[in-house]
Amino acid sequence: MTKRMLGRGVAVVGAGMSKFGAFPDKTSRDLLVEAFRDMRRSVDKGLDPGTIESLYIGNFSSDLFEGQGHTAPLLADALGLTPRPAVRVEAACASGGVALRQGVLAVASGIYDVVLVAGVERMSGLPTTAVTDTLAAAADTLYETPAGFTFPGFYAAMATAYMHRYGMTPEHLMHVAIKNHDNAALNPNAQFSLTISALMQNRIANAIKKGQPVPSWRDEWEFLHDEGANPVIAWPLRLFDCSPITDGAACVLLVSNERAREFTEAPIYVIGVGQASDVPLHNRDNLTTLPAARLAAQQAYTMAGVSPSDIRLAEVHDCFTIAEIIAIEDLGFFPPGTGYKMVEDGVTTRSGPRPVNTSGGLKAKGHPVGASGVAQVVEIFKQMRGEAGPRQVQGDLSLALTHNVGATGSTCVVHLFERR
Ligand code: COA
Repeated sequence: MTKRMLGRGVAVVGAGMSKFGAFPDKTSRDLLVEAFRDMRRSVDKGLDPGTIESLYIGNFSSDLFEGQGHTAPLLADALGLTPRPAVRVEAACASGGVALRQGVLAVASGIYDVVLVAGVERMSGLPTTAVTDTLAAAADTLYETPAGFTFPGFYAAMATAYMHRYGMTPEHLMHVAIKNHDNAALNPNAQFSLTISALMQNRIANAIKKGQPVPSWRDEWEFLHDEGANPVIAWPLRLFDCSPITDGAACVLLVSNERAREFTEAPIYVIGVGQASDVPLHNRDNLTTLPAARLAAQQAYTMAGVSPSDIRLAEVHDCFTIAEIIAIEDLGFFPPGTGYKMVEDGVTTRSGPRPVNTSGGLKAKGHPVGASGVAQVVEIFKQMRGEAGPRQVQGDLSLALTHNVGATGSTCVVHLFERR
């Protein structure tokens, strides 16, 4: 692969996010303002918003979710940043990651020194069936959606293909859910603030309080196997295998290497960028890997001159539990067909040798689709600077990665980060 380099160094000097969840009273403008304020607080030496020269905003579908097109200038206005150029970037669930890449390329090109990358989505204003239809617009509407596919259906097809090929069981998927809910329980901005075990205990306590029949679950495994508590959405995926419907926003401040120390003594450098596209899922031979993710990762590794074994920490696109297992293989962390065993063995837990999705991931932190790729960077920024509080990973975190997927992998984008 040809080694491509950024024209100049690019650093993340601030990162923040809104609380993720369902907020009927908030617009996407409110959410973005919340994320921007949080990002601003994270800039050690302060940020005068006037220094921001351009905005790249990931957003899948404000048109369909909120009936609002041409959102970028409205969002810029909400931040008081007009007349700076503001661009909405759309790549389905990879909108945030692709917006980040556009911001990185803009700074690396030399045209701007200070760029705001944001992501926002407000999904909860529609009923679940309408959200499902809206998300399905990111699939192939000529051949896939008329055949009845929805996103849980697509990822269920990938899960069954993976189970058939490698012998994984639905219990392995539950390991991913338990881990990511454990992590989210330590993330104050996450949509789900309880471990699955604590959530189960709450349900038991509520039943006792209300004099209702008391569920007999003895642990989270029995809870997850109970059809009433964890119904099948698209077999083998159950409720707790799915990311939720989420409102939220995230912001990252990118600056040129030369300007980084004006903002902080602890910048995080973007050292590798990769992006690839692919045919829709129905045209692929193999459903157990995302070729575009492999290619994007390879581009990023080649640019940075590092290999997968050098990466200590990753935020990957776990829109469904199976997606996390496929991601950690596509990124080269583990050989094909072994990712599920690594999850079972605890390799990817917070205290394991290769922590994945310490934020709670899309699964439990929440998945406001256009914001997710940017929110991944918020976690990496905090972790690499030792600011992740009770979920802080110990040890050397000098290299980390984000992996963001659009639809079923027809867009994949990977970024590599370094703390020097
Ligand atoms: N994981 C765990 N719990 C969830 C959940 C999820 N993904 N989604 C909802 N819940 C919980 C809610 O908190 C609520 O719990 P409570 O009764 O204790 O308050 C309960 O389940 C019902 O919530 P509700 O919002 O009515 O669920 P729903 O049936 O309308 O939606 C899904 C559930 C799985 C269909 C929906 O979350 C979904 O479509 N997710 C996938 C989104 C998606 O495809 N994103 C793009 C990926 S590419």
